[in-house]
Amino acid sequence: MSWLWMLLAVILVVFDLPNSKSSSFTADLFENWSKQYGKTYPSRQEKQFRLSVFEDNYDYVTKLNSLANSTYTLSLNAFADLTHHEFKARYLGGFSASANNLITLNGGSSSVGASCSVGKIDIPSSLDWRKKGAVTNVKDQGSCGACWAFSATGAIEGINEIVTGSLVSLSEQELIDCDRSYNNGCGGGLMDYVYEFVQKNGGIDTEQDYPFKAGEGNCNSNKLKRRIVTIDGYKDVPANNEQELLQAVVKQPVSVGVCGSERAFQLYSGGIFTGPCSTSLDHAVLIVGYDSKNGVDYWIVKNSWGRSWGINGYIYMVRNTGNSAGVCGINKMASYPTKSSPNPPPAPPPGPAKCDLFSSCSGGETCCCSWQLLGLCLTWKCCELESAVCCKDRLHCCPRDYPICDTNRNLCFKRMGNSTLVKQLHNGGLSGKFGDWSSLLANWNF
Ligand SMILES: *[C@@H]1O[C@H](CO)[C@@H](O)[C@H](O)[C@H]1NC(C)=O
Ligand SMILES: *[C@@H]1O[C@H](CO)[C@@H](O)[C@H](O)[C@H]1NC(C)=O
Ligand SMILES: *[C@@H]1O[C@H](CO)[C@@H](O)[C@H](O)[C@H]1NC(C)=O
Repeated sequence: MSWLWMLLAVILVVFDLPNSKSSSFTADLFENWSKQYGKTYPSRQEKQFRLSVFEDNYDYVTKLNSLANSTYTLSLNAFADLTHHEFKARYLGGFSASANNLITLNGGSSSVGASCSVGKIDIPSSLDWRKKGAVTNVKDQGSCGACWAFSATGAIEGINEIVTGSLVSLSEQELIDCDRSYNNGCGGGLMDYVYEFVQKNGGIDTEQDYPFKAGEGNCNSNKLKRRIVTIDGYKDVPANNEQELLQAVVKQPVSVGVCGSERAFQLYSGGIFTGPCSTSLDHAVLIVGYDSKNGVDYWIVKNSWGRSWGINGYIYMVRNTGNSAGVCGINKMASYPTKSSPNPPPAPPPGPAKCDLFSSCSGGETCCCSWQLLGLCLTWKCCELESAVCCKDRLHCCPRDYPICDTNRNLCFKRMGNSTLVKQLHNGGLSGKFGDWSSLLANWNF
């Protein structure tokens, strides 16, 4: 529906109807917008504040969209109730391209700059890896600053499809939880560290098996061992070399850092983004192709802010600007994983879990002791969850992620932060396993 607002916005500008200062129009618009994006606010005051932020964004969007020479448009998207300051705090800064990081990085095992093929490869006039099936659906990082993980999985998904012919969505959560040597979960990271980590670990698990939780958790060591997709190394595109960046994109989707903290980036909705934009990198995205329109060349860039941002989650960013860093610094820090080896064969289903000499549970289950005497377990039961936590009542078990049993209320909890705050299992996005509680009881043969 954003086109409708755009239309309304244009009509407003053209006919100079009352703007947000006479707020019944924007209040009405805000109501519709809240409905569309499912926004509710805990208090009247908060709602009032959000309305005022929305009105401010409305003014900004209307003003920019009325510029005759602008090549891009803005809209009141899902971020339209956030101040620019809030937006930056919540969605940016996940890309830590500091000098320190770079020093460590160049000490890594990458071969920097592949230049033997310069000028040798054919450069088509346009290219879209999405049309070749090498790009997964746009993901949503939520307010976890792990753009680096999304950019890196996107690049690995791409090269994996190009080499093996199968498109597999890969796990950012594994990177957030387990790749902790240099990267810092929702606090930021770099794609090259991911490539080093995945290479060293011997592969990475799928999105489906280790899904994104929009927060940090403990590394699941079983899933860490599920090495579904491998890479053989990575390469850095020489900084500020747009020609080499283009050659890299011709071969595969490429990870890049950009400055994503311009206000116009927050509310971008379409067209070719030309800035103005700083070149200090604070966000990571993925170039998945390039094209030109009316003589303006642009990159096709996949973001990780969900499908409601930009063009179904994508942004077109101008290229060949003559500025060596590129728009928003996009030429400054590009890299991509390399792959020539096939992926490992699928692992056999987990073998039976042995409880003691005489009893075992099937693979993917956990042994829980149901009758203990003098410290010895005499009877075992099987919990149908893998690596589960056995509850003290000896009747129930909880999934590993939600390890606190509340057997009176039939719930499993998890601690959040440093307080006594607890989270209820069925709000935790546990992918259907909560339904197991009752079946669990039945399976325990009592
Ligand atoms: C809000 O939605 C209603 C119902 O769809 C519509 O009639 C009204 O014009 C909308 N208001 C604005 C300001 O877009
Ligand atoms: C568009 O016009 C505005 C105001 O006339 C000017 O400040 C701005 O630099 C122009 N932008 C471009 C990309 O030409
Ligand atoms: C931890 O607890 C202290 C004291 O209650 C509180 O001030 C602080 O905000 C808490 N930090 C987090 C991350 O929850």
